[in-house]
Amino acid sequence: MTARMSGPFRFGDRVQLTGPKARLHTITLREDGELHTHHGVLRHGDLVGLPDGSVVANSSGHEYLALRPLLRDFVMSMPRGAAIVYPKDAAQILAQADVFAGATVVEAGVGSGALSLWLLRAIGPAGRLVSFERREDFAAVARANVETFVGELPANWDVVVGDLAEDLPHAVAPASVDRVVLDMLAPWECIDAVAEALTPGGVVVCYVATATQLSRVAEYIRSTGLFTDPDANETMVRGWHVEGLAVRPDHRMVAHTGFLIWARRLAPGAVPPEVKRRASKTSFSDEDVELWTPGAVGDRQITDKNLRKRVREAERAAEGARQAAELPGGEPADEAPEEAASRPSSESA
Ligand SMILES: C[S@@+](CC[C@H](N)C(=O)[O-])C[C@H]1O[C@@H](n2cnc3c(N)ncnc32)[C@H](O)[C@@H]1O
Repeated sequence: MTARMSGPFRFGDRVQLTGPKARLHTITLREDGELHTHHGVLRHGDLVGLPDGSVVANSSGHEYLALRPLLRDFVMSMPRGAAIVYPKDAAQILAQADVFAGATVVEAGVGSGALSLWLLRAIGPAGRLVSFERREDFAAVARANVETFVGELPANWDVVVGDLAEDLPHAVAPASVDRVVLDMLAPWECIDAVAEALTPGGVVVCYVATATQLSRVAEYIRSTGLFTDPDANETMVRGWHVEGLAVRPDHRMVAHTGFLIWARRLAPGAVPPEVKRRASKTSFSDEDVELWTPGAVGDRQITDKNLRKRVREAERAAEGARQAAELPGGEPADEAPEEAASRPSSESA
């Protein structure tokens, strides 16, 4: 039975109970179910028929606030095989990938199934989600988590145990997928298969943890010539404490989870109008050390003439400081002598 997200409680619903001392218990309502704590016994049946957000008392009169867990509550507390996509990033993925009701979506890897749950909700019953996972044990965790939250294994969700790059061409027809989300260590290894599967105009979003992965997947996407130029961002969410006059940011936050990078599939043979950009080297290998110049990494380069001027300025200032230190009482000299300014710079300059 599919879990209901609103309405009065019924058997089969998951309910979060916040009891004495703010202790949290999550239960699934069963006909003969009881919650036993050292504060007494609460019969599950006492909740059935009550509106979400009700307060119920147990056998000793201890009160519990009963609420259905939201998806964000569930993913943060569900069993994990692999690290999950946090709700703040899942929300951005849905927006940047433009996941819509009825969409055909591919994701890899499925990990613990957190992102699968957000994607399933966004595509709705008319959509289709195909999730790839290399590890059978992780896929089992994901299936169990989705079944727990949804109440059943959704009919529009397929989990393929295998490598996306190898198995995607066998699982979907070419140009049939609307959106692809990659959450894995080496998404660039899958971009060719993704390009084949995506419909023209379709979106690929990659979620990566490090700047080196971000750079590598960006350059790979560009090198194919099959996508629009990729965009990237990261999302930092800072909570606020809002109570009386104490209104301030929280002292702690989750500062880094990952980066998102996304691009759209071009139509076959399409070459987008050239965008004028500052020359930048795009190759990426150990032999490329000499390519890591200020120009290549996007820094403005100083002209030789300008640099000589800056050297003279710096040396004049240093000479002034030196003279000031030598004067009785440490008084600064009015001006650096001309010869100091014309002194040749050090050998390394
Ligand atoms: C960080 S986890 C994904 C977490 C998941 N998105 C979630 O929210 O719970 C990354 C997963 O990708 C899987 N993986 C890595 N490369 C893969 C590939 N080429 N094909 C399929 N799965 C892959 C790993 O086994 C791992 O379980």
